[in-house]
Amino acid sequence: MNVHAAAPAKAHRLDDRMSAFASDVIDGLSQQPKQLSPKYFYDAAGSELFEQITLLPEYYPTRTELGILRERGAEIAKLIPHGAALVEFGAGATTKVRLLLDQCKFGAYVPVDISGDFLNAQAHALAADFPALDIYPVTADFTAPFALPAAVKAMPKVGFFPGSTLGNFEPHEACGFLRGARKILGEGAQMIIGVDLEKDERVLVDAYNDAAGVTARFNLNVLVRINAELGGNFDLSAFTHRAIYNRERHRIEMHLISHKAQTVRILGRSFAFRAGESIHTESSYKYSLDRFTALAKGSGWTPTASRTDAGGMFSVHALVAEG
Ligand code: AVI
Repeated sequence: MNVHAAAPAKAHRLDDRMSAFASDVIDGLSQQPKQLSPKYFYDAAGSELFEQITLLPEYYPTRTELGILRERGAEIAKLIPHGAALVEFGAGATTKVRLLLDQCKFGAYVPVDISGDFLNAQAHALAADFPALDIYPVTADFTAPFALPAAVKAMPKVGFFPGSTLGNFEPHEACGFLRGARKILGEGAQMIIGVDLEKDERVLVDAYNDAAGVTARFNLNVLVRINAELGGNFDLSAFTHRAIYNRERHRIEMHLISHKAQTVRILGRSFAFRAGESIHTESSYKYSLDRFTALAKGSGWTPTASRTDAGGMFSVHALVAEG
């Protein structure tokens, strides 16, 4: 058995998470402009919709990053010491981590995610294909401090944060995440991180406005969750998905736009919407190589290698925690 089960979640965990969802929704919809955190997209239905997004013709990031990892993985692997513990921040599809595991001899794999069920399913799927690898799933919010399993403490550490998930953080949060990861992984650790790049606005806008409407369903799913889990009464047909590129702030913004003046009730509270009013549901920051390098350096990491695809669409960086 090479999957070492995560400690069982505390009994009050679900309630805590539910009340965090409730208070974040109430806070966010009480603000001007209204907003909701993108972390609430990812229940089972939202995660499935996101997997569909990654296969869309317009959504270039996933296949481009996979291409970089496939073509440049051997170069990246040379930077990594044998027997290191690979710590993945967030556990999605296992396609990307498999490329690293194929090219480098790791001592252990530590996937970290808030969803314990998903994490364990993912760990068992990997264990079948990498029987010699010790896997230590950690159920935790990877944006907050967490402890690494004792069994990997003495191993060199390599963080892995693919998919440009960093782009969904505000710049100060991205810096906070990188600093936190450095603390968790320790001095001398390495980090492999995927970062989406600034490019032609049309390409960006199309990637978040796919013709099949999957991104629209993904965006609206947060309202579905509020209705199902918090007893909200959002009329889904009265909101439209919109994605725009904010050039000054280097970010795609996803919004849900109210078609009409309406009032929505959630947990006994009323939220009034004007016709055309938006809920800002996600920002996806796009970096230049220079701006990402500056962010990494300002967060305690030294960039050691950067690789992009031939079209300069996406980048994968190796960083080291030194000095
Ligand atoms: C997970 N994250 C990096 C995706 C992105 O591109 O910002 C989420 C997403 N939102 C709409 N499409 C994909």
